[in-house]
Amino acid sequence: MLAGKRILLIVGGGIAAFKSLDLIRRLRERGATVTPVLTKASEEFVTPLSTSALAGQKVYRDLFDLTDEAEMGHIELSRAADLVVVAPATADLMAKMTAGLANDLASTLLMATDKRVLIAPAMNVRMWEHPATQRNLVTLQGDGIMTVGPDVGDMACGEHGPGRMSEPLAIVDAVEAALADGPLKGKHVLVTSGPTHEPIDPVRYIANRSSGAQGTAIARSLAALGADVTFITGPADVSPPSGVKVVKVQTAREMKDAVDTALPADAAVFAAAVADWRVENASGSKMKKDGSGKAPALEFAENPDILAGVSQLKKGRPKLVVGFAAETDDVDANATAKRKRKGCDWIVANDVSPETGIMGGSENAVSVISDEGTEVWPRLSKDQVAAKLAEKIAGALT
Ligand SMILES: Cc1cc2nc3c(=O)[nH]c(=O)nc-3n(C[C@H](O)[C@H](O)[C@H](O)COP(=O)(O)O)c2cc1C
Repeated sequence: MLAGKRILLIVGGGIAAFKSLDLIRRLRERGATVTPVLTKASEEFVTPLSTSALAGQKVYRDLFDLTDEAEMGHIELSRAADLVVVAPATADLMAKMTAGLANDLASTLLMATDKRVLIAPAMNVRMWEHPATQRNLVTLQGDGIMTVGPDVGDMACGEHGPGRMSEPLAIVDAVEAALADGPLKGKHVLVTSGPTHEPIDPVRYIANRSSGAQGTAIARSLAALGADVTFITGPADVSPPSGVKVVKVQTAREMKDAVDTALPADAAVFAAAVADWRVENASGSKMKKDGSGKAPALEFAENPDILAGVSQLKKGRPKLVVGFAAETDDVDANATAKRKRKGCDWIVANDVSPETGIMGGSENAVSVISDEGTEVWPRLSKDQVAAKLAEKIAGALT
């Protein structure tokens, strides 16, 4: 429910702007107050009259409207909300946000706000996949901007692919997650997820089969309980959850740097499958066969142990450090030994032998090992494991 919550809704100039009218209705049904802001381009798609009628509010349109400045200045308008939502977020608006432009009311509000911002991108598939948009997305996510969608589907322009704005109810879910008043409100939780890629040369790398599904689900569940989540992910198969700060990395060393930068945190959950070793003699150019039939000799160096490093911090250690142990033999014994060796509080142990179908699958069977002993959980979906673990973390932090 969103009773009493105030949403500043910026409508971008895309064909999906018509869906924002339904979004206003859905947000209001759940008790939110919606203050709409239209860009010049969005007025080509929806009228100020219909937007204001559905919102039951004045529509803000112009930075230099002196009446508005007398009533409520642009700075105040940007702060008077609990959350800023941009839907649709056009390629143009995303680029402006990335560059920090403030040349109209919408972009100025986005620069001036001290509140969290959730964007729902919507554009033609080529515009979405354009390197410029993808670069902007990474920058925005790194700045803590939350995203929902886009979905894959048929587009108004007749093409098919990713770029459709998420449906209004999915955006409402993301708004609810972003504003969740759960037991973890005010707590910063860091989650690592996915595999790491360790380069052999510019085109080849060593990786593992982690899909990132479990770490992503954990980050989503923690955010749903109100946590402020920093999600540090290697190149995963699944998209990062909405409502969290996303930091994308490739290698174990980049992941360590991102973790160090994200600290301090109240809790840290290390669900990533970090490579133990990297190729020390990785080549700067593509390795070629030399006709001798001799394979190149790869030399390995140990990667930093992120879990042990954070667990053993003398200063600024998170109150709760949770590690994961993916094992194929003697799961509980190996995981118990790992907990002692690393110095973390809990180890979530799972059997990733191929016959379990866990690595890359949708289910997980875990044991949680702590000072209190070993809790064996039944086989559950990864979402259920995540929800149960998030509840347990909330219990430990509150
Ligand atoms: C019919 C039509 C549909 C458009 N749909 C989109 C769209 O879905 N997404 C997008 O990023 N741009 C779209 N554009 C381009 C934007 O309107 C244009 O980039 C505009 O400057 C965006 O303004 P804004 O920053 O106010 O969103 C469309 C343009 C036209 C003429």
